[in-house]
Amino acid sequence: MNEVEKIRSAEMEYHNTFYKSAKLYQPGSWISKPVANVMEAFELLENSKPLKVLDLGSGVGRNAISIAQKSMDGTVIDCIELLPSAIEILNDNAKDYGVQDKINGIVSSIEDYNIVNSYDFIIGVSTLEHVNDEKAFELVLTDIRDHLAINGVACLIINSEVQEKDTESRELLVPQFEVNMPTNDMQKLVHNIFRDYEFVKEEIKSLNYIINRADKEVNLSTNAVTFILRRTK
Ligand SMILES: C[S@@+](CC[C@H](N)C(=O)[O-])C[C@H]1O[C@@H](n2cnc3c(N)ncnc32)[C@H](O)[C@@H]1O
Repeated sequence: MNEVEKIRSAEMEYHNTFYKSAKLYQPGSWISKPVANVMEAFELLENSKPLKVLDLGSGVGRNAISIAQKSMDGTVIDCIELLPSAIEILNDNAKDYGVQDKINGIVSSIEDYNIVNSYDFIIGVSTLEHVNDEKAFELVLTDIRDHLAINGVACLIINSEVQEKDTESRELLVPQFEVNMPTNDMQKLVHNIFRDYEFVKEEIKSLNYIINRADKEVNLSTNAVTFILRRTK
């Protein structure tokens, strides 16, 4: 396995185990509620008509299910996700919350998914940095830009400058992120691609948390950058 394959395999293993152990919107895990910035971005849309929504790397629907609950009948949320097990749980969650008509789960990697429609709302929460490499990252950002409808909004949350450290030995580990850019370079790239779009919000949060990688406890630090972007013309 090359480095990217190892990272992808660790990422899949972590999420596969996690999604089976944590229940959507139950307290105590990171899927206990939708992301505040995503819901804030959703409020910018004209929500009196059915919307077309794209959730890249949807997981089990932490954001998609809440969006579905708040949107008009006829709204369709295309949820792209690498893990078949996550899509199965997403579909069960959609039924449990009575929004199965709005949720369209698609098993695919983000980089292999061919975006064909134009969307009112595109979200990518902690997923775009998991495409194969920086070239694919740039192509996906360009694809998002080109498929946003006029007055459409994108909410992208992207980790950068990630460090992972063994909590016991303090040894620095290879961060399990396929794309791990310096924060400033990543922001410049997003600005360049979305230069004709309005940056409604841009916020950097320096986060630090403990996660499990295989049998190790790992301290992960990251600058998570939130971009809320609007296409005005
Ligand atoms: C940190 S989780 C976030 C999930 C969801 N966006 C949320 O906010 O709850 C990252 C998700 O992206 C998925 N993922 C990772 N790499 C991917 C890729 N290249 N294409 C599609 N999904 C991917 C993982 O399986 C996982 O469900």
